[in-house]
Amino acid sequence: MQMEELVALCRRRGFLFQSSEIYGGLNGFWDYGPLGVLLKRNVKDAWWHDMLVGHNEQKLQPGAPSLYEMAGLDSTIIMHPQIWKCSGHYDLFHDFMVDCRESKKRYRYDHVKGRWVTGLKHGEGGEPAAETRVFVTTMDTENTEDALKERAAHFFGLRKKDLDSLVWEGPLTDISALDDLSRVLGPDAKHPGTLTEPREFNLMFKTTIGALGGEDDAAFLRPETAQGIFVNFKNVCDSTRVKIPFGIAQIGKSFRNEITPRNFTFRSREFEQMEIEFFCYPGESADWYRYWRDRRFKWYTDLGLASEKLRLREHEQAELAHYSKGTADIEYAFPFLPEGDFGELEGVAHRGDFDLRSHMEGKLVREGDRLVLEKGPDGQPKHRGSGKDLTYYDDQRKERFVPHVIEPSSGADRATLAFLCEAYHVDSVPTAEKKEDAQRTYLKFHPRLAPVKAAVFPLVKKDGMPEIAAEIYGELKEKMSVQYDEKGAVGRRYRRQDEIGTPFCVTVDGQTLQDGTVTLRDRDTLQQWRVKKDELMGELTDRLGK
Ligand code: GAP
Repeated sequence: MQMEELVALCRRRGFLFQSSEIYGGLNGFWDYGPLGVLLKRNVKDAWWHDMLVGHNEQKLQPGAPSLYEMAGLDSTIIMHPQIWKCSGHYDLFHDFMVDCRESKKRYRYDHVKGRWVTGLKHGEGGEPAAETRVFVTTMDTENTEDALKERAAHFFGLRKKDLDSLVWEGPLTDISALDDLSRVLGPDAKHPGTLTEPREFNLMFKTTIGALGGEDDAAFLRPETAQGIFVNFKNVCDSTRVKIPFGIAQIGKSFRNEITPRNFTFRSREFEQMEIEFFCYPGESADWYRYWRDRRFKWYTDLGLASEKLRLREHEQAELAHYSKGTADIEYAFPFLPEGDFGELEGVAHRGDFDLRSHMEGKLVREGDRLVLEKGPDGQPKHRGSGKDLTYYDDQRKERFVPHVIEPSSGADRATLAFLCEAYHVDSVPTAEKKEDAQRTYLKFHPRLAPVKAAVFPLVKKDGMPEIAAEIYGELKEKMSVQYDEKGAVGRRYRRQDEIGTPFCVTVDGQTLQDGTVTLRDRDTLQQWRVKKDELMGELTDRLGK
């Protein structure tokens, strides 16, 4: 599948628009249009239902070590700045970036990828050609090899047919693997050696609280929803009387000032997360980690992500975040990535007691296999915690301890994008329906995710058919998202619904006037069958599932 085709469909049919488009757009920000908002809401509702409200705490879930409870939360985007100091985001949440002195562009250090290439190059003043070795780079992740060839052709002043004279070395790597950048041809530069040395860049958006605007009033837009859960741990325990093991779930916006936002909504500066912090006994945390890893993976496959494009990848020890004892990523082979590459949809992390202890004691650092309070140059704690008691007292075991945490952290926008990519189909098999069109494009969404569940058409705009269709539309609309369409040939109307992924179309035709039945048509099989008008609601709800 070509990503550009999906991006064009998303824009044309109102799934996604570039933010502030009429002013030229804003890089890294996206608006969900009328269908996109329904799709993303369905993704979030499915998550909220399956993880939280539909969870039966009296029934052992398959694979779970024991019964458990779940609670919901909606915390604020701007929180006390000390939270980010204790969580580590203030000191550690940064990426390395390089600037290009020539193009004036800024790139994330580990996103600039390229290869060494040697060829003959004439000097600027027409000097004779000399052998030149340069590390050619690109930011194009989809057609990387072609983009590199094009960049090299341009640099060496070669025509396409002469490209064979170049000698390429080594695999594609990012520039963070190089010792020095002086022979690197930046992604948009004409000359090598224009990239600066990498510099740290904090990804949190800074803002100011109140009118005075001094440094003491500085605050941050949250870069993750997780910390809102940790700082409310005690409140939830005290107000709901949940017992360990239990989880707190939250869906909400997060903000990261990404250096190179790209790949449609995959890496945005404003996005939504769906996070669970699951609090458990330290001795049982390894079992809960495995439970959540497998459970979250299954959630995606149950909603239609094909298993060969989805994978579970355990992090190597060196890859683990500073707080984590174990992390697995759930990854999807997005079509904009080079062949064989996967992009993260969700991380499932074993966070130990790092977060609750940090919010009690202050910012912690690892010393061997212990977490200790980080000290400043004066020997005092670098960032003080709240000083509040965030331990848990187990009245059955008669013990007090800091619970361990398993965190399944997923992105609503990335999940929505993966469901869109997976759903995109172009079907060229001729069928009776496709007399006029050689191809049909359809989004094969899981019925729970489809933004529109059914469309109702009168076959023609006469003989009372529009009235009956409008009545059916009104009845269905009270229960589900439905569209009414009477414009154009019925084949075209089917095509319009296929393109937005509507699972079922209902057509009122001549036979409806005689026997009260309507035609129901399935998006994927293209099968059509007749259903009594009165039984339509039941038939649709059965077929749509939950
Ligand atoms: N609390 C842990 C945490 O935030 P993360 O891996 O940084 O972990 C979790 O983020 C998920 O949030 C990612 O797997 C991804 O789905 C989503 N996410 C992170 N950064 C994103 C971005 N810039 N744009 C869109 N989604 C993003």
